[in-house]
Amino acid sequence: MTDSSAAGAAVYSPFTLALYDAWVLGISNRYAWRCPTKEVLLPFFRANTGLRHLDIGVGTGYYLANAQLPADTQITLLDLNPSSLEAARRRIDRPGTRTLQHDVMTPIPGDELFDSISLFYLLHCLPGPLDAKAAIFGTLKHNLQPGGVLFGATILGDEAGHNGFGRKLMAVYNKKGIFGNRGDTQLGFEAHLRQHFRDVTLKREGKVLLFRAAQPIV
Ligand SMILES: C[S@@+](CC[C@H](N)C(=O)[O-])C[C@H]1O[C@@H](n2cnc3c(N)ncnc32)[C@H](O)[C@@H]1O
Repeated sequence: MTDSSAAGAAVYSPFTLALYDAWVLGISNRYAWRCPTKEVLLPFFRANTGLRHLDIGVGTGYYLANAQLPADTQITLLDLNPSSLEAARRRIDRPGTRTLQHDVMTPIPGDELFDSISLFYLLHCLPGPLDAKAAIFGTLKHNLQPGGVLFGATILGDEAGHNGFGRKLMAVYNKKGIFGNRGDTQLGFEAHLRQHFRDVTLKREGKVLLFRAAQPIV
């Protein structure tokens, strides 16, 4: 773990996690990032989650708790922050859910493979530049089963043309190291995803990029 990658995880205490769903998934997603949680992000999460699923950057576990996944879905939670892992594990409340405290910027120990890996609102928390954070696509592709899918959503940088509310949040969060996304662009992520996967689909909703990548190039 580096000092800069720690900053993007350090803010998630039991106190901030208690406010997270209302502030981030409610108010900010609708009014700053213009990408509503229930209408856009939750259906995208549900549509791409497979039987053996790895969620990276778990926050409060909102998506896993609300996606109405089949009972036999096996979930692994990975996060740098133990408070996030504990909050999500408790909220999901599924026997057999595993937790792994780990920095996504380094390869996952072991050789376990998953049918799906989700990166929801993780990339914009990782320190820039984009090339450094997008390197995780090249390591995570090795954690996918044949036929597996890597998918996620991330708030784009200044280039997205944020509204006044968004610009204020971007300024504060980037200054504190909670975000590291000033230079994040759709084209940049697309180029990195295409370098590692044959099948890449991207969708833009408001200031958020939703991506899905399959068929790793190994
Ligand atoms: C903005 S929250 C996203 C929560 C959830 N996925 C959502 O979309 O609501 C970011 C999460 O990523 C975790 N995180 C940040 N940097 C990380 C890193 N380098 N490695 C692993 N997890 C990290 C934080 O601890 C936090 O739980």
